[in-house]
Amino acid sequence: MKQFPDLIAPSILAADFARLGEETTNVLAAGADIIHFDVMDNHFVPNLTIGPMVCQALRNHGIKADIDVHLMVRPVERLIEDFAEAGASYITFHPEGCDHIDRALQRIRDLGLKSGLVFNPATPLHYLDHVLDRLDMILLMSVNPGFGGQSFIESTLPKIEMAREKIDASSLPIRLEVDGGVKIDNIGKIAKAGADTFVAGSAIFSSDDYAATISALKAAIVRAQAI
Ligand code: DX5
Ligand code: ZN
Repeated sequence: MKQFPDLIAPSILAADFARLGEETTNVLAAGADIIHFDVMDNHFVPNLTIGPMVCQALRNHGIKADIDVHLMVRPVERLIEDFAEAGASYITFHPEGCDHIDRALQRIRDLGLKSGLVFNPATPLHYLDHVLDRLDMILLMSVNPGFGGQSFIESTLPKIEMAREKIDASSLPIRLEVDGGVKIDNIGKIAKAGADTFVAGSAIFSSDDYAATISALKAAIVRAQAI
């Protein structure tokens, strides 16, 4: 049973970085709910993207929506402080990038932010076992992190169901987010498996009409859940 309204989270990794403020404003005006912010360090993943200064720049530009910072970095710890200061709303990180998962999750909440753990396609969910009560979000990767525009890995679907069961059994208010290869033609089955927060990068930013694409994503979720 999902506890939260469904959210569309465009990944600005696929936006035009030369016009990032405008792109972020436009995607929110087009119906996006939160902004997914991919941080890559050329170490944990083989790509290098954006950091706290860019998050701060979006806030300075007037972006009020939640910013969902997905850390694909190692180590995680010191960036938590920097992103909290830069106006992040959620901070999620990969357990493989952090030696002290419990402490990092606590720190995120102590700073007044929402916390989350991210699972690569091959990372087992047992990392959840002792920290479920410290989480506001579970993020399941449906591609191997590092790049936008990859294909959805189908074995994520049973994993979404497993994570949904764990959340429901706990009765804790935890969002279940899916990231990678989410498109209009597969978002329905992702929703049906139990996700409530949907990252979409190329599906939205490669389209000509952000509002039409976001409406189609939302309609596909509603359709799949009505069946
Ligand atoms: C991948 C990132 C994703 C990516 C998704 O490492 O975490 O957020 O931007 O992009 P698409 O939707 O194009 O797969
Ligand atoms: Zn991401």
